[in-house]
Amino acid sequence: MKILTVLGARPQFIKACMLSKAINLNTDVTEIIVHTGQHYDDKMSTVFFDQLNLPKPDYYLGIGSGTHGLQTGKMLSELERVMISEKPDIVLVYGDTNSTLAGSLAAAKLHIPIAHVESGLRSFNKKMPEEINRIVTDHLSHWLFCPSQAATDNLKNEGIDKNVYLTGDIMYDSVLHFKSHAIQKSTILKDLSQSENNYYLATIHRAENTDNPERLEAILEALRQLDMDVILPLHPRTKNKISHYKLNHLISKPHIKIVEPLNYFDMLAISSNAKIILTDSGGLQKEAYMLRVPCITLRNESEWVETIQTGWNHLVGTNKKEILNTVKNLKIPRDSPPIFGDGNTAQKIVETLVK
Ligand code: UD1
Repeated sequence: MKILTVLGARPQFIKACMLSKAINLNTDVTEIIVHTGQHYDDKMSTVFFDQLNLPKPDYYLGIGSGTHGLQTGKMLSELERVMISEKPDIVLVYGDTNSTLAGSLAAAKLHIPIAHVESGLRSFNKKMPEEINRIVTDHLSHWLFCPSQAATDNLKNEGIDKNVYLTGDIMYDSVLHFKSHAIQKSTILKDLSQSENNYYLATIHRAENTDNPERLEAILEALRQLDMDVILPLHPRTKNKISHYKLNHLISKPHIKIVEPLNYFDMLAISSNAKIILTDSGGLQKEAYMLRVPCITLRNESEWVETIQTGWNHLVGTNKKEILNTVKNLKIPRDSPPIFGDGNTAQKIVETLVK
């Protein structure tokens, strides 16, 4: 059996590593990896392949940045070419990026069955490009692998109930596999002169925040007023927008430590020791839960409803006062039930695909 995997953006490299390992253990399956090149900087791409031992992509499409239509369109035509020549039995896609959408559209038009990992998530906000990408992908997919109960419920509400599998979250496999090694290897806390529970970690990259100067300013203003150091790994998109909107003065305070995008091991080490994580990332909301670190989500909605229901994640939006009040009054829950499965998601997915 031949599986063609489409990857392109940073979170997909993390999601793919454990599943690729599981696929490669099965001698009856060959995996062809196609990297669209949506993320191309060394710090956004290459470092993850090296650190996570992901096999080198068989194809690198080098698409790069662009408007959504242009980026997705270029990917679509290149992926179609690769799929026609490789003739895979299954196309495997992850998450909700433009690479996911292009991969599933190309496969659907060629009548190749699609497996979607991290299926069923919804923010119910169609202004998010990711929401469009995952709705279309779910409705085109043959196998739908859901990370959480809420995700399977969402699919059911849209009339999708065949081949839906509640496998748990593939990122939980990675956290369990790499956590202790990462914490041992990483020198990031020492390099940034930080100690456990004595700093906040913040990340911002969602278009709804970076492309809206008022929201971006409010978030940065809140970070500026926090009472401890803030580690802020800057996504290239955010860096560009801060300059573009002339907001650099908001991050020039000494307690705001700007760093380049971090590799996976440093990110695990810095996340697990943070007092609170403030983020608009989907992946980091989950990782915070898996690492038992409280999270404040800088968005108006979250796909990870279970993290909120259990009291670990607080959906706060971008109001400066709300952010600061939530930080001040935050209480740590006692329990963290296994909402993301048991860490054997990769194995469950492979077993289903080869059946
Ligand atoms: C994408 C995904 C998002 C995911 C995120 C993780 C879509 C619609 N969005 O958003 O779901 O959570 O990746 O990071 O697919 N850039 C660089 N170097 C890079 C990559 C991007 O400089 O290696 C800059 C470019 O200026 C580009 C901007 O970032 O215009 C946005 O890139 P884009 O491909 O839209 O991805 P993300 O914003 O990262």
